[in-house]
Amino acid sequence: MPKIIVLPHEELCPDGAVLEAEAGESVLDVALKNDIGIEHACEKVCACTTCHVIIREGFDSLEESDELEDDMLDKAWGLEPESRLGCQAIVADEDLVVEIPKYTVNMVSENH
Ligand code: FES
Repeated sequence: MPKIIVLPHEELCPDGAVLEAEAGESVLDVALKNDIGIEHACEKVCACTTCHVIIREGFDSLEESDELEDDMLDKAWGLEPESRLGCQAIVADEDLVVEIPKYTVNMVSENH
């Protein structure tokens, strides 16, 4: 079974975590199942950017993002070449190392 290694995130997962995943699950669902509360404001239909994650390792094992996802990601805080929407990034058969960005667009707007 592939694993998802989640890098430490101050609020959501201060010590980092190693999660068991199954091929076919989304990165977001695996995190949520393990009580890592990544936001998912649009309920996983690729219409927000709050589930943005950066795939530090294993990016190429994922199915490529489609145009809609790329359009949404363009609006994400802290976009990187290996950014994905967690609800659209489907685990394949390789381990992944995932970083949760410090902010989401929702949080940023709430704080200002
Ligand atoms: S939860 Fe909105 S795009 Fe993933």
